[in-house]
Amino acid sequence: MSDLAQTLAQFGQEHLLQFASQLTPAELTSLESQIEAIDFEQLAALTSGKDKTIDWAELARRADPPRAVRLNRPAEESPSEAAIKAGTEAIKAGKVGVILVAGGQGTRLGFDQPKGMFKIGPVSNRTLFEMHCDRLRGVMDRMDVEIPMYVMTSPATDTQTRAYFDANDNCGLPNELLHIFCQGTMPAVDDSAGKILLADVNQIATSPDGHGGLVAALHKQGCFDDAQSRGVEYFFYAQVDNPLAQLCDPELIGHHILAKSQMTTQVVSKRFPMEKVGNVVTIDGKTNIIEYSDLPEDAANQTQPDGSLKFWAGNIAIHVFDRTFLESVVDDAAGLPFHRAHKAVTFVGPDGKTCKPEKPNAIKFERFVFDLLPLAENAIVVEGDPSRVFAPVKNADGAAVDTPAKCKEAILALHHGWLEAAGAKIAPGVSVEIHPLWASCANEVAEKVDSGQEFPTDTFLS
Ligand code: UTP
Repeated sequence: MSDLAQTLAQFGQEHLLQFASQLTPAELTSLESQIEAIDFEQLAALTSGKDKTIDWAELARRADPPRAVRLNRPAEESPSEAAIKAGTEAIKAGKVGVILVAGGQGTRLGFDQPKGMFKIGPVSNRTLFEMHCDRLRGVMDRMDVEIPMYVMTSPATDTQTRAYFDANDNCGLPNELLHIFCQGTMPAVDDSAGKILLADVNQIATSPDGHGGLVAALHKQGCFDDAQSRGVEYFFYAQVDNPLAQLCDPELIGHHILAKSQMTTQVVSKRFPMEKVGNVVTIDGKTNIIEYSDLPEDAANQTQPDGSLKFWAGNIAIHVFDRTFLESVVDDAAGLPFHRAHKAVTFVGPDGKTCKPEKPNAIKFERFVFDLLPLAENAIVVEGDPSRVFAPVKNADGAAVDTPAKCKEAILALHHGWLEAAGAKIAPGVSVEIHPLWASCANEVAEKVDSGQEFPTDTFLS
């Protein structure tokens, strides 16, 4: 105890033991082990701003566009057919696994359960988890192969996520293909003095350590070994809050394989210079992401000779990784920079009372998975059509963008487009949603729908 108190005093964090005299021996032991798990030197560097700071403005001024496979490229350049063939062969050979990250706290959405349990199917009312699992089942069915899915949770979402999959028959996935694994945490500190917050008298306030905690968690929880034993060579990575992510898209996987890339990122073309997405760029021959908040306006406004934006590639957080690449960066990933997020965190004050702030009061520290990009050999970006691959659920309805309502609109626009291309007539105001086991693209819809077929009422084609 005295050693611990000394360490705390050294780092100005003595308040963590301020309620020690009121705790039972078991509670005190638990608090001590939480304190022992904290890397105080690392935290001190982070709170004092003495960790690695990167001059993004300077880097942005000498950055170039990334090595890319564009949507409107000459036919002979990175042909789609060759990529689809390579990707399909890899999937059918059982070389692809899926990583779905679902450890975030979803604070902006304001939903008090794991975001994956949020209902988003416009007609079906399926949850985000169901949407992803159904899509994966569709791929397995068409390709006649088993594909493991590794779902990353955090202490904030783990118990409820496991209970949800248990209660819902694993959303149709065979038990042996579903791996739920939990990521690590970082302490949250108050935004004025950098003091670690207590969530309760015997509980440190922690938050998930960001999707960049993925590599350490995959390693620690034995997922690499499991993937290797199944012959998985590539991971298809997606985030739980984008139900349009085309899990195991053969073309994306194929471009990754043909380019011998260790980490491939699907991007969309930015609509305007300061759009709030990460900008994928090349700096000194390495691929990097510059956050929109770090990109100076003059750099963002730069154009190419044809007048298009120089920094056009917006990150949508869909990646393909070589398994061996992720395994090889376990140590490097432990040194990835932390990013700071200013958030509202509930805490216990010196009077022992719980305080739920309305405004951000705390700093959370998160690592980002895309910071692995500069470590990857031959990294490329592949442009996707946002209407087919990107409809994130970030904010509660009422916000301007990335809301559940906008996401449902995007799902319906895609499905209605397929139906109307096949000649179907959808009555005004009617919603038709398509289950991926029924059809997963315009061609499959065309095989099932007759020209002139009418949809007078809301329908879920499943
Ligand atoms: P976001 O950065 O959008 O965070 O996560 P969030 O938790 O969903 O939402 P806010 O910022 O609190 O409103 C993008 C994706 O990364 C996952 C999330 O679950 C989401 O799929 N994520 C985020 C993790 O798995 N772990 C984390 O520590 C953070």
